[in-house]
Amino acid sequence: MDYESVIKLALERGFYFPSCEVYADAQAGFWEYGPSGVGLKNKFLELWRRELVRRDAMMEIDGSQIMSESVFEASGHLENFADPIIKCTKCGATFRADRMIAETAGVNIPEGADLAEFDKIISEKGMACPKCKGSFGGAKRFNMMFGVGIGPEGVGAYLRPETCQSIFVDFPRLYKTMRGRLPLGVAQVGKSFRNEIAPRQSLLRLREFYQAEIEVFCNPSRLGDVDRFSEIQDTSIRIQTEADPVLITCGQAVDSGIIPNKFVAYYLGLLAEFYEKTGIDIRKSRFRRLGEKEKAFYADVAFDFEVETSTGWLELVACNYRSDYDLLNHAKKSGEKFEVMDGEEKVLPHVFEISMGIDRSLYTILEHSLRRDEKNDRTVLSLRPYLSPVHVGVLSLVKKDGLKEKTDEVYLQLRKKCDAFLDHSGAIGRRYRRLDEVGAPLAITVDHQTIKDNTVTLRMRDSMEQKRVKISEIDSVVATLIAYP
Ligand code: GLY
Repeated sequence: MDYESVIKLALERGFYFPSCEVYADAQAGFWEYGPSGVGLKNKFLELWRRELVRRDAMMEIDGSQIMSESVFEASGHLENFADPIIKCTKCGATFRADRMIAETAGVNIPEGADLAEFDKIISEKGMACPKCKGSFGGAKRFNMMFGVGIGPEGVGAYLRPETCQSIFVDFPRLYKTMRGRLPLGVAQVGKSFRNEIAPRQSLLRLREFYQAEIEVFCNPSRLGDVDRFSEIQDTSIRIQTEADPVLITCGQAVDSGIIPNKFVAYYLGLLAEFYEKTGIDIRKSRFRRLGEKEKAFYADVAFDFEVETSTGWLELVACNYRSDYDLLNHAKKSGEKFEVMDGEEKVLPHVFEISMGIDRSLYTILEHSLRRDEKNDRTVLSLRPYLSPVHVGVLSLVKKDGLKEKTDEVYLQLRKKCDAFLDHSGAIGRRYRRLDEVGAPLAITVDHQTIKDNTVTLRMRDSMEQKRVKISEIDSVVATLIAYP
């Protein structure tokens, strides 16, 4: 389905909507999740924990969103975390230089290109302000961190632009108190903040957004030595370097040098297996190796996990080999020790990161799961059952003849075990349609036969097949149908 259909569903079925929408001064780039969106997000994160955090025995932390200035001096964000902008000399409107050039002149230029390169293209192509046709001043860099003032003195600090900085500054304590051993994965879910120049397309470019980040600390001399590599060596992934993407197993990707080592390949494999289970069409995905000018300033090697959507290829995850960049700089700035013992060897660990954009992932799951069933004149959100905000709708055929009371009983029984939604009102067909749109894989209807023989109708969302099930067996039938893979 297309972007417009997803946004319509999101607004009408409580997935997400603009923040502060009742006020005229609401700012772009801030969106909120409604009950269906929170349900989907929580289940997505539970899957992430199952498939990555727990599978790999990682630690999870929950750090502060406001962090001190020293953190970002050391991390390099104060100096480098900036987008190229151009400002109209006549009306003052400001634009992101790389995007304006791509959209109006059709030239792709990496955001990290030298400022002179932006100026050169603007002048060669005779580009002018789209609002007033004025000319542009020279390209500049705009730092995207939101500053805050702490206490009455307004001591400078920042809303974190990536969650992982807490993982880096907490590393010495975590390693010591949690009896860490390399390789050690530390995970975190939380909000990050970026003062985007041009937020757009709801969840796709936000100023306040969720990340699920994993930082794996490792001994750089042991990147070829991965105990559990056999688990993913036959997992297929699509990789794009310079040419077209190739479909290749993780094992072949290492042997052919497309992925530099087993350590990186292992995590790309885990990530591909995770996304396969989210219901995203994995045939429309690729790991794209970024060029020198495309990589973030802290990355040595970077693969973006991208998925094709109606809006184009979307980056869902940045996989960055950050080397010792972060720990070295925090060690220098703070004076603390970040080296650890790996067996007999003293090492400053290197970091491989899997930085997942949650909002974009949820958008992509919605887009890839939403379909029109013209034959039955319905819109269906075919979410994987374990990701659905509502596992089962519980409906009374009519409210009279004791059916309402019996339905309430079944609902109370089920809601202790799963996410059940009770609905007594409206035509039954319309109630099924609403459940289809919210992605509920199952619906249970209590009818007159229920009173006679204690059975209910169980309806499957995708096939619309219906069968009778005994109330005494309904818990286990539902549990099996919504189970994780
Ligand atoms: N931590 C990497 C990122 O935010 O993209």
